[in-house]
Amino acid sequence: MDHYAMLLLVALFPLVCSRWTGEYDHFTFAQSWPPGVCADAPREHHTCHVDKQVTTWTIHGLWPTQGSEIGPHDCNSSMKFDFSKIASLQKDLLTFWPNLYNDTELESFWSHEWTKHGTCAQDLPETTGELNYFSKGLEMNQKYDMLKMLSAGGVTPSPTEQYSYKQFMAAVKQSTGFDPNIECSYIKLDNGTDFHLVSEIEICLSKTDFTPVACPGSENSSKGGNQSGSYKTVKSQSNCPQHYNFNYPPIQYVLNRKTGMFELPDDLIGR
Ligand SMILES: *[C@@H]1O[C@H](CO)[C@@H](O)[C@H](O)[C@H]1NC(C)=O
Ligand SMILES: *[C@@H]1O[C@H](CO)[C@@H](O)[C@H](O)[C@H]1NC(C)=O
Ligand SMILES: *[C@@H]1O[C@H](CO)[C@@H](O)[C@H](O)[C@H]1NC(C)=O
Ligand SMILES: *[C@@H]1O[C@H](CO)[C@@H](O)[C@H](O)[C@H]1NC(C)=O
Ligand SMILES: *[C@@H]1O[C@H](CO)[C@@H](O)[C@H](O)[C@H]1NC(C)=O
Repeated sequence: MDHYAMLLLVALFPLVCSRWTGEYDHFTFAQSWPPGVCADAPREHHTCHVDKQVTTWTIHGLWPTQGSEIGPHDCNSSMKFDFSKIASLQKDLLTFWPNLYNDTELESFWSHEWTKHGTCAQDLPETTGELNYFSKGLEMNQKYDMLKMLSAGGVTPSPTEQYSYKQFMAAVKQSTGFDPNIECSYIKLDNGTDFHLVSEIEICLSKTDFTPVACPGSENSSKGGNQSGSYKTVKSQSNCPQHYNFNYPPIQYVLNRKTGMFELPDDLIGR
């Protein structure tokens, strides 16, 4: 075995191990922009609904993360989700951590987040047990208020205005000190006109005090290529264009496929 192969093995050993031990070195805190999530829902074979009380970026999840891996996940199958333990948070969960897919059971989203991610965060008092774990997520959504952070950087929801990848990155960085990961959804009209919409922004948080830290790999992974038509590849299938601007429509707005405009759906007009 040559020297480099040996080094590689040594470097990979902790990563391989973490799959078994559930080790992680930071949290990924992912917040969703409901219009972007809903734009992607048909591709995910879901229907989507943004309730009236949802007025800001919602929580996708608070995910224990090891380096630039996706995971650990599903750390303890005997810790079954029990909604009654977080029933006291129901109102806040429906407002700030809602299940936007209305063709799935209301509680299935929280159950999924707990089973896949929450069970991996049981080493910290702040996230031990369902009540602490979901409370911490809600607290982080207030503390790292994405609507406010973006708007402080001049990026505000609009039916018509588009923003660049750089504007989004700079706005978040100005508040947190670090580059976030940004994801987009994609809609294509029959005549070929297409739109990208921001759907998710992820920041990385310290395991010790839940303050922002650099996301591993963000320095390089956020740069992407410099050819027209190149996209940032992110952990999910979604991506944001870096060489032309994309949409950040107001909450509850949907794309009218006939007019190509972002509009309030009929059932919300006049409310
Ligand atoms: C889901 O929400 C959409 C949009 O508001 C609505 O048209 C649809 O009827 C809802 N579906 C269910 C199963 O509630
Ligand atoms: C998994 O959860 C159960 C129930 O809370 C607990 O008794 C057990 O120690 C946990 N297992 C591990 C490996 O943490
Ligand atoms: C980013 O890429 C540069 C040049 O390839 C490299 O020197 C640097 O260490 C990388 N930084 C990170 C955080 O990966
Ligand atoms: C992208 O490449 C062009 C042409 O090579 C160059 O002029 C431009 O400065 C580059 N932009 C960035 C952001 O690196
Ligand atoms: C496609 O349709 C939309 C909505 O009617 C319209 O705004 C856009 O200009 C059309 N694009 C082309 C290339 O015809």
